[in-house]
Amino acid sequence: MFSNISPTYDFLNRLLSFNIDKVWRKRAVSLLKGNFFLDVATGTGDVLLEVKKKFGSVELTGVDLSLDMLKIANKKIKDSSFVCAPAERLPFKDNSFDGVTIAFGLRNVVDRVSALFEFKRVLKSGGKLVILEFNRPVNRFFGMLYGFYSFTFMPFVGRLISKDKAAYTYLPKSIRRFPDVEFLRSMMESVGFKDVYYQPLTFGVSFIHCGKKP
Ligand SMILES: C[S@@+](CC[C@H](N)C(=O)[O-])C[C@H]1O[C@@H](n2cnc3c(N)ncnc32)[C@H](O)[C@@H]1O
Repeated sequence: MFSNISPTYDFLNRLLSFNIDKVWRKRAVSLLKGNFFLDVATGTGDVLLEVKKKFGSVELTGVDLSLDMLKIANKKIKDSSFVCAPAERLPFKDNSFDGVTIAFGLRNVVDRVSALFEFKRVLKSGGKLVILEFNRPVNRFFGMLYGFYSFTFMPFVGRLISKDKAAYTYLPKSIRRFPDVEFLRSMMESVGFKDVYYQPLTFGVSFIHCGKKP
């Protein structure tokens, strides 16, 4: 599915989020520190692009299951490594990265607990995991508006532009199925992350979840 929508992915992200997705990624990246960064489910590499803007010449690695997404990322970001691999089995040594990010990716990962264990394994001690993910808006009125937008308008425009019938219908459904913020916090803690917290973005359309490897 992601390979199928890769040619129009960036354009639709900007259009359907009114460019807010860029601001969200920037916020997530602002929490990072260090020199070695891994972005999981990197897609077309937009998180790594923000990391590069903030830190300059640091070591960047992107992982994704879709080769077509990675090809686009590779064209956009020079001097980075891209690896086709699942989040649940990362092909990196223990204690390799200062920061691990995953933006709009965890929702799609089947075995999230294994993925969280992998993120912790590849992080150095003191390294940070930053998760950016859609969730359900807290405000009921805004939630209703957003429900209409995501279940009606977004699939219509998404289908029209990407020519993929299922992808933009899958998106709001997968957001509904994703664990709520408290549950994700407790998952991160039970995997062993410390100082775990989350913060809402744009009335809770998205959340940043952050935790440290002890
Ligand atoms: C919605 S895109 C997000 C892309 C990018 N992180 C961004 O901020 O736009 C989700 C990505 O997750 C990837 N993906 C889905 N399941 C995965 C898994 N188990 N392991 C690695 N990548 C996965 C897809 O191929 C897709 O590129």
